[in-house]
Amino acid sequence: RQTIKDLLADYKKVLHHDITVQGWVRAFRSNRFIALNDGSTINNLQVVVDFENFDEETIKKINTASSLKVVGEVVESQGAGQTVEIIAKKIIILGDNFFDELQSTILQPKKHSLEKLREQAHLRFRTNVFGAVFRIRHAVSFAIHSFFNQNQFFYINTPIITGADAEGAGEMFGVTNFDLNNMPKTEEGDIDFAQDFFGKKTNLTVSGQLEGETAAMGLGRIYTFGPTFRAENSNTTRHLAEFWMIEPEVAFNNLEDNIDLAEDFLKFVIKYVLDNCKDDLEFLDKRFEEEQKSKPEKERAKEGLIEKLENVIAKRFKRVSYTEAIEILLNSKENKKGKFQYPVEKWGTDLQSEHERFLVEKHFESPVVLFDYPKEIKAFYMKLNDDNKTVAAMDVLFPGIGEIIGGSEREARLDVLKTKMAEMHVDEEELWWYMDTRRFGSVPHAGFGLGLERLVLFVTGMTNIRDVIPFPRTPKNAEF
Ligand code: 4AD
Ligand code: MG
Repeated sequence: RQTIKDLLADYKKVLHHDITVQGWVRAFRSNRFIALNDGSTINNLQVVVDFENFDEETIKKINTASSLKVVGEVVESQGAGQTVEIIAKKIIILGDNFFDELQSTILQPKKHSLEKLREQAHLRFRTNVFGAVFRIRHAVSFAIHSFFNQNQFFYINTPIITGADAEGAGEMFGVTNFDLNNMPKTEEGDIDFAQDFFGKKTNLTVSGQLEGETAAMGLGRIYTFGPTFRAENSNTTRHLAEFWMIEPEVAFNNLEDNIDLAEDFLKFVIKYVLDNCKDDLEFLDKRFEEEQKSKPEKERAKEGLIEKLENVIAKRFKRVSYTEAIEILLNSKENKKGKFQYPVEKWGTDLQSEHERFLVEKHFESPVVLFDYPKEIKAFYMKLNDDNKTVAAMDVLFPGIGEIIGGSEREARLDVLKTKMAEMHVDEEELWWYMDTRRFGSVPHAGFGLGLERLVLFVTGMTNIRDVIPFPRTPKNAEF
């Protein structure tokens, strides 16, 4: 059975033959022209309904959102707007609409805001925008697996329930097994929520990195690709409580290799989307352009969506040390005139997203890789540099997004790692298994984490991270 995408791409093979198509009605014009969509492509197939062949009852039942099976002849279209259409001979209504209820849904054919669509996330797969976004999200995921496969990485599944806090930041959701008759109790007899994984304290993973490192210490090159959870109470357009992270880890790589890998990887995926998602990108490009028109001139994007993607893969990313970046920020007009919400005062402060975006969008006008951050503001596992002040960290910053990748060369020396963990109050005993990687044949190694949704935001030109994941989890939002 072919999809509408197949048919539109290669209709000549079946021209003047009868075929069967199935899909949902996107529009029904003049009781004669049905725009039918089956989700395989942004493009609809035009079905022509000849009154004479169909009784009024059937025609009356066909409405936006109905699902149909149509048998008809493939012909070249006389009308403008499509090259091919089918002349219906038989129409079977697969699913009736509950008309009264339909009125209050986003399936009503009119323009709905993205906020409104989000409230009915379960229905938004039927819209053009979300069809395009989720087909592209798929292509991004597929390209990620292809890239790593081509480069001899092995896909490793790390646990979702874990006893480790990989980032040492304490932003975890605890796990409760809800066996209400058999809950662990405190000495006072209350339920002990801190110990609920059959008596052990566990949480949902904030990163698969530490487990990934152990795998890389045997398999060489690995990557993880899985759901990741952060209990930070951030209500921004860039944060989710549940997101998907891709984490490669490579034995024998240093920081520079790691940056090269991140750059090649991002460019490969973006190029894949440009080469394979043309129709959806063109649709989103137009949408993006419309959106720009409604903005004040000063805030409009300088380039279209597709143009932006082509430019990003054409140029080498700027590589800038944290120390250089601080100099640039300290000397910027913006900082001197107090334009930043958080003024930059001295070396050592963490960068806010307004600073990252200034560097990327105003100063360099290019993706930027920042490296060698002060050790105090980065995680315990990063390699201490010879200056004893900075670590071999790297963040990739993208226009319109801010941080898209965070990574580092890891501290491979057991003694240095132990000192750092003690300084940062990370419990060595809990991570005994991790320490073993440094005990038996420790080697330099490096890796990074890419937030899938941030990359999908970038390639689709969407502006809210809730609009690039099917069912967004954010504070107070877990209905479906
Ligand atoms: O910078 P992060 O916290 O790094 C790590 O977790 C490392 N263990 C990765 C590694 O070296 N293996 O997160 C990595 C990326 C960020 O750059 C961002 O793209 C994404 O994950 N990310 C989020 N995306 C959506 N919502 C959130 N709350 C996110 N937190 C991080
Ligand atoms: Mg980070």
